[in-house]
Amino acid sequence: MQQLFPGEIFANTADFDTSIRQMLPRYDEMLEVITRCLPSTSRRILELGCGTGELSLKILNRCPDAQVIALDYSPRMLQFAQGKITACGYQQRWTGIETDFGHWANNPETLNIGTEFDGCVSSLAIHHLKDEMKLKLFERIRQSLAQGGCFWNADPILPESPALAEVYKAAREEWAVQQGTNLTEVRSKVGVTTTYGYSSQDRLATLEAHLQMLSKVGFETVAVPWKYYGLSVFGGWVF
Ligand SMILES: C[S@@+](CC[C@H](N)C(=O)[O-])C[C@H]1O[C@@H](n2cnc3c(N)ncnc32)[C@H](O)[C@@H]1O
Repeated sequence: MQQLFPGEIFANTADFDTSIRQMLPRYDEMLEVITRCLPSTSRRILELGCGTGELSLKILNRCPDAQVIALDYSPRMLQFAQGKITACGYQQRWTGIETDFGHWANNPETLNIGTEFDGCVSSLAIHHLKDEMKLKLFERIRQSLAQGGCFWNADPILPESPALAEVYKAAREEWAVQQGTNLTEVRSKVGVTTTYGYSSQDRLATLEAHLQMLSKVGFETVAVPWKYYGLSVFGGWVF
């Protein structure tokens, strides 16, 4: 059986877009929030862990002048994303790059993508890094943003208490049932993942810890524009 990189989740990449919507409550709404938090006049957007390109597509639809540079270490995910971007006619405005964003955080000079991004976004990817690397990545992101630029990340968060962990778990199970399936059925499509590069299995941090990391590296304003049980969109601006 093929071993997947952390974050690819499903054994068959073609299952991702349907199965992630069954596995996680309000996936589309979560990505929409990120997209809405970017100025529609944005020109340069960096996406970390683009997967099958769902967030990229929403950004390209909403920001007509945006060029998106999308990093992902999985050739399977990038190939799938490229097919969808091309089918939508956005190939001139989207560049997929096969690389580990942890490596970029530590060695920015090895990736020729420049700085001065109007926005940096990510969804369901950064939680695979150790907290120490999350901090380094947030610092690299801050240094890569133009003045007034913003960063928005959607990720699962560490439940604030054992009781809330149960509440969040039940909400996910109920969501899957509302989608006409259940989590056991969806999880039967999950592949075997091993540690790869800077990422490994989920390494969740609390929302509070994420916000503190962002403040520590110099985001002057931090915010949480969306939270639904154990999923959150958080980020901030540099001025
Ligand atoms: C769960 S998927 C989410 C994809 C997409 N952002 C979305 O919301 O649909 C996580 C993606 O992050 C990528 N990823 C995880 N760790 C990474 C790393 N260290 N460097 C680059 N890509 C990474 C995986 O390959 C995968 O495509």
